Amino acid sequence: MQLGQYWRFLTPTALPFTLEQGRTMLVDRLTGAPPRPFQARQFVHEHATPGDPADVLRTLDRFSLEVRFLMSVGPEKGPLMSEMVGKLPEGARVLECGAYCGYSAVMIADRLPAGGRLVSVEVDPIAAEVARSIVDLAGYSDRVEVILGGSTETIPKLAGPFDLVFLDHWKELYTTDLQTLEKHALLRPGSVVVADNVGEIFGAEKYLDYVRTCGRYESEHRPATIEYTQIPDAVEISVYRGGN
Ligand SMILES: C[S@@+](CC[C@H](N)C(=O)[O-])C[C@H]1O[C@@H](n2cnc3c(N)ncnc32)[C@H](O)[C@@H]1O
Repeated sequence: MQLGQYWRFLTPTALPFTLEQGRTMLVDRLTGAPPRPFQARQFVHEHATPGDPADVLRTLDRFSLEVRFLMSVGPEKGPLMSEMVGKLPEGARVLECGAYCGYSAVMIADRLPAGGRLVSVEVDPIAAEVARSIVDLAGYSDRVEVILGGSTETIPKLAGPFDLVFLDHWKELYTTDLQTLEKHALLRPGSVVVADNVGEIFGAEKYLDYVRTCGRYESEHRPATIEYTQIPDAVEISVYRGGN
């Protein structure tokens, strides 16, 4: 999201959320609290049952609702992803851009078919460390690899193709990263690309225009709300047709 688009978070619907985020960030700064992903990791390790992915997800939801907001895909949009993962063939390969605390990684891993694998690329070392730890707690480190690095530099080094791609990192990179996936033959006809946070508030018009008009995707818009809030958001599900 460009800086000039942050005004969308100041509209009456989003303002209480924005103010609450400002308040909690200020409190954490003044009290010297650890980074939010470390707080989440500690909470989940203290409260969730190891090897129980559903409990790990529930505990992350509880942290987000009761302690500090986490920008995870959350319990409303997450099941959309699970639905897509549930349709994948045996041995399917999934790519995620943006692991954060590992919420969606656990959700995806939980529905992977036999022999399936998830590669999750995360640019922030703190988030990558937490995602690995939470995936491990859920019991899924055998099928999930969290790679520390920026998506733009990492994607060309990956081996594909991917059957499903989850774009959930910085929104201004969605279009160029998708084009890099195409250029490096990391998609096959039928690959599904799920893009989170493409509601109006995030200013994802460029991405939506690309997948809807370039002729290489069959694209569907699913309205939703930003995780743990009532602020309108959306997910775009685009099936790659192939072609130039
Ligand atoms: C919305 S969060 C991801 C949430 C996660 N998918 C989930 O549902 O649990 C966005 C994450 O993308 C990461 N990120 C931002 N730019 C990135 C990039 N270029 N490459 C990889 N990760 C990036 C951020 O550090 C952040 O952890």
